[in-house]
Amino acid sequence: MLANTQEFYINGLNYTIRSAMEKDAKQLSEVRVQIDGETENMDRERGEAFIDPAGFEQIIKTDTEKPRNLFLVAAVQDRIVGFSRCEGVYLKRFSHKVEFGVCVVQEFWGYGIGKNLLNASIAWADANGIKKMTLNVLETNDKAVELYKKLGFEIEGLLKNDKMLSDGNYYNTIVMGRFNE
Ligand SMILES: CC(C)(COP(=O)(O)OP(=O)(O)OC[C@H]1O[C@@H](n2cnc3c(N)ncnc32)[C@H](O)[C@@H]1OP(=O)(O)O)[C@@H](O)C(=O)NCCC(=O)NCCS
Repeated sequence: MLANTQEFYINGLNYTIRSAMEKDAKQLSEVRVQIDGETENMDRERGEAFIDPAGFEQIIKTDTEKPRNLFLVAAVQDRIVGFSRCEGVYLKRFSHKVEFGVCVVQEFWGYGIGKNLLNASIAWADANGIKKMTLNVLETNDKAVELYKKLGFEIEGLLKNDKMLSDGNYYNTIVMGRFNE
């Protein structure tokens, strides 16, 4: 689906949050690789599971058409600096819920971009009868966990030793959900 465009001015930065469009595919392909390389809080190492521009074009098309998908980007002028997706599961027994994911380029952390991407996604989900938003987050990703709690997500469970990071240690993943009852 498509969401309305919103403008923000926070900590001296102007940015827009809007639905992803076909023309964003190339930048999204690049920025995803960049963000994967900037943090260990994502699932992939830099360059793993690469999605090329054509792949993003397809994802954008699908997310635009499907009623329980939403693909948002945060743009500073014409530069994409973050994005989020809600992805529905198209089986009847899961038709009340969507999975949420978000990431922001490190240089743009702390401008409310993550929070506003999530806020816009929640507003869309609530307005479209989605009863549950779900996400997975690394237990050590305090900032993201705080953000999710602040916007109404609760901890549902813990996946033990779910990931091994570059220090060779195993880390737990927290499963969180937000319920629209
Ligand atoms: C997690 C992430 C999406 C947050 O986005 P952001 O734009 O940097 O965060 P925001 O500026 O919107 O801040 C949102 C909230 O995070 C929390 N937060 C921000 N900085 C924080 C810090 N240093 N310590 C603890 N909490 C912090 C606050 O709750 C803040 O809300 P507030 O502004 O009302 O105080 C972003 O840092 C990111 O992409 N990180 C790497 C990828 C990632 O971790 N993705 C999530 C995977 S589940």
